[in-house]
Amino acid sequence: MRIDIISAVPDLMHSSFNHSILKRAINNKLVEVNLINLREYAIGGKSKQIDDYAFGGGAGMVLMIEPIDKCISQLKSERTYDDIIYMSPDGELLTQKLCNKLSLVKNIIILCGHYKGVDERVREHLITREVSIGDYVLSGGELPAAVLSDAVIRLLPGVLNDETSALSDSFQDNLLAPPVYSRPAEYKGWGIPPVLLSGHGANIDKWRHEQSIERTKLRRPNLLH
Ligand code: ADE
Repeated sequence: MRIDIISAVPDLMHSSFNHSILKRAINNKLVEVNLINLREYAIGGKSKQIDDYAFGGGAGMVLMIEPIDKCISQLKSERTYDDIIYMSPDGELLTQKLCNKLSLVKNIIILCGHYKGVDERVREHLITREVSIGDYVLSGGELPAAVLSDAVIRLLPGVLNDETSALSDSFQDNLLAPPVYSRPAEYKGWGIPPVLLSGHGANIDKWRHEQSIERTKLRRPNLLH
């Protein structure tokens, strides 16, 4: 899979791809992530302009259509894209289901908004999907793009050491994950469920499944409907 992320401030995202699971996935060539600086497609020579005032007035700058169009056109001339995603609080809510779907495609572009957002014509003509990571407003689409990329990349075959571990994540099956414990089995008098020490695989699986259901009923009952 290839993910091209277009941003006015790509530095905001470097660290999330330079550590741990995502770094290993990139090094092992299971995914290619390109952070593209929109400024490289700026208009007006030296001034490197990518944003301008909104027509009609009002506070805040708007990312201009021309640099974004130049950047997306260049990428599209090199390969075909399954989706061109704009990160925005107005978009469809990011869910595990959408992550699963995106993990099956070959190439995507993610465009990050900044300042007041992008010229509406970008959304009308260049974008195929808008995605929000939640009902709150962030300063830009960079952190949301990193969130989306992380959630998708960890689903790609071979990314997680234990192939089954993405399948047992919360939200797969619409259930929250069961509790987990590690050593010591007793700490300050706080014990752990004895079944986990029983060595009985089937009982442990049954207990975990019951805990998932209980936890989901208690914390996120809406997932069960
Ligand atoms: N940009 C700003 N806020 C956002 C959000 N909640 N989701 C996606 N993109 C955003």
